[in-house]
Amino acid sequence: MARKKIALIGAGNIGGTLAHLAALKGLGDIVLFDVVEGVPQGKALDLSQCGPVEGFDATITGTNDYADIAGADVIIVTAGVARKPGMSRDDLLGINLKVMKAVGEGIKANAPDAFVICITNPLDAMVWALREFSGLPHNKVVGMAGVLDSARFSHFLADEFKVSVKDVNSFVLGGHGDTMVPVLEYSTVSGIPVTDLIEMGMSTKERVDAIVKRTRGGGGEIVGLLKTGSAFYAPATSGIAMAEAYLYDQKRVLPCAAYLSGEYGVDDLYVGVPVVIGAGGVEKIVEVKLGAEAKANLQVSVDAVKELLVACKGIDETLA
Ligand code: APR
Repeated sequence: MARKKIALIGAGNIGGTLAHLAALKGLGDIVLFDVVEGVPQGKALDLSQCGPVEGFDATITGTNDYADIAGADVIIVTAGVARKPGMSRDDLLGINLKVMKAVGEGIKANAPDAFVICITNPLDAMVWALREFSGLPHNKVVGMAGVLDSARFSHFLADEFKVSVKDVNSFVLGGHGDTMVPVLEYSTVSGIPVTDLIEMGMSTKERVDAIVKRTRGGGGEIVGLLKTGSAFYAPATSGIAMAEAYLYDQKRVLPCAAYLSGEYGVDDLYVGVPVVIGAGGVEKIVEVKLGAEAKANLQVSVDAVKELLVACKGIDETLA
């Protein structure tokens, strides 16, 4: 069987980490694309030299030419600028929208059959714009946010309950921003909801509320510490989990920014919801029953995403 081809658009911190993980996991041959000359080529050469030590055969190439992504099975997009301290994800909108236009057109012309995972922020708006610019089917373009947000939530919960992260399964809905909605009723330790664990005295509502707040600001906390950029290890790991679900037809249920057409009462918008990812891309949107509080919080999040799309349409009239 021929090797799969993974194209990574953006060879920065996340792009380089994605390439490293994809090579270590043997997902396929890797093409790193960037607009900056030398960076994707240099990273590809460095990563290729891991091969003899790790024993992987994948070819890793760097390029500045979109023609080299032709035939890609999976494309992961991290092109654009990242946050600096004091910036919100939304501050990136103007610059990254232009980048999405170039990337979308590159994908449309060279790899229209790929499964595309967008990581560039502000995520929910950028994935929507990338879909518009690329013209790919909605089920083949998805945003990575929920896997990362729920990983952050799970990490903090495991720490609080002093249990293995393996047994924590957390659930985060909504946009990838300060309005994201961690849902306690569906977040569990080995099937026991966090709300029950609070009743059992394992933590308190106040402490869990503080964890929810920390999860919402999880990206900003890392930007504040790094000062020169934003998180990249966990975002890359999360993107790779989504790529594996597609490549291996795993039918995993993962929270992703997916295109909604009526589900959750939302239309023509990308918002974080649980979806099934398999060989068909986003095969199903899982519509769970939400309590009044989660519903109201989701609406706030949806409204925030809507505002970003209005801003996108104001900047690029082809989107209107
Ligand atoms: N086409 C391709 N690559 C581009 C383009 C473009 N038009 N414009 C910028 N880039 C490249 C930059 O040259 C850089 O190598 O995108 C890369 C971005 O890398 P970093 O600055 O290291 O950012 P990173 O941490 O990887 O984050 C990328 O993901 O999580 C989001 O908020 C984050 O939007 C940011 C993106």
